Amino acid sequence: MQNRYNARVTDAPDFDSLAEQLAQYLRPRRFKHSQYVAETAHELAQIHAPYLANEARLAGLLHDHAKSLGNRALIAQAARFDIDITPSERESPGLLHGKVAAALLPERFNIDDPAIRRAIADHVTGRPGMGTLSRILFAADQASADRAFDGVDELRRVAREDLGRACLLVAMHKLRYTLYKERIIDPVTVEVYNELLKQGHADGR
Ligand SMILES: [Fe+2]
Ligand SMILES: [Fe+2]
Repeated sequence: MQNRYNARVTDAPDFDSLAEQLAQYLRPRRFKHSQYVAETAHELAQIHAPYLANEARLAGLLHDHAKSLGNRALIAQAARFDIDITPSERESPGLLHGKVAAALLPERFNIDDPAIRRAIADHVTGRPGMGTLSRILFAADQASADRAFDGVDELRRVAREDLGRACLLVAMHKLRYTLYKERIIDPVTVEVYNELLKQGHADGR
């Protein structure tokens, strides 16, 4: 038997009971989305970083658990956890649902894994310097089976081959969508886009 003090939190997560807990926080459609993202994140991890498969599945399942909080609740939770609110988050508090979800993860789900929390915090806008788990979740959140937008099939194909390029496609999709909706652009997503270009993830068209 494994010494429980050496066991990592994510070695044997009871995925089904976490899903049951998650269901109490989300409407059915968002809950279903979370399950799809868990599947996609798990699959991408198995391709790109098999040692992260459990973490990716958990991050996928739980990434949107704070999505049902309203603007005031998100701002209040951000204040409670000393999260710095950027000007774009002040303008569009919905952007905070990732950072707040990461902060609430220990008390809602008893999960304290820093990489999982980091990936969940990063999934909304992306972040320059994202590590592998963050990249997997950033891509999986848009490549999941419930997504339907122009370019999603290309994203799904690319995500299996080149995670960096997949993240570039996600940043492009988010920026395009934000422009189309005439919403505030979060400059962090522009930074992510620029960083991935500089890293050579453009396809040279
Ligand atoms: Fe989200
Ligand atoms: Fe999501």
